[in-house]
Amino acid sequence: MAIDLILAILHHLLIFMLAGVLAGEFVLLRPGLAGREVKLLAHLDSAYGALAGAIILVGIGRVWFGLKGWEFYVYSWSFWAKMAAFIALGLLSVSPTMRIARWSREARSAKGTYIVPDHAIAAARTFVRLEVLVFALIPIFAAMMARGVGY
Ligand code: HEM
Repeated sequence: MAIDLILAILHHLLIFMLAGVLAGEFVLLRPGLAGREVKLLAHLDSAYGALAGAIILVGIGRVWFGLKGWEFYVYSWSFWAKMAAFIALGLLSVSPTMRIARWSREARSAKGTYIVPDHAIAAARTFVRLEVLVFALIPIFAAMMARGVGY
């Protein structure tokens, strides 16, 4: 009981943090991005990766130690739909992460004079916008899975 509750609390806190970081990235990805904001974006992106990793660990913990037992989830299509959406979220984040790492290196070597090109910002924004859409699907599948839809 206690472990289930602790994991559920952690799961929710991590998810809200991930949503906050994603929103922060979306806000920072504007034309004219330069200097300290590139650094901040790189920090946010590292936090994004760390939070996603922690969500996977806590999520697996919930499947394993949750009150309903692992069979409740692995035989449910809504659980797998949620996992597919989570994997899609991860794949969509690869391109922006690679760009942000490149901008961060450029900004460091140009010592404050580097401005991210507008077309690169637009490309990264497209991916982050898709991430926001896919992210919204996850709580929908989560609510279905928690109520045994598709089991
Ligand atoms: C960004 C990613 C994720 C989001 C937004 C998310 C969202 C949620 C939400 C909102 C709930 C509560 C559902 C409810 O009680 O109505 C939940 C429960 C749960 N999630 Fe996640 N989740 C994520 C990732 C994961 C991952 C990666 C796993 C497993 C590997 C996982 C496993 C679970 C489990 C086992 C529950 C408990 C459902 C129940 O009460 O029966 N989640 N999730």
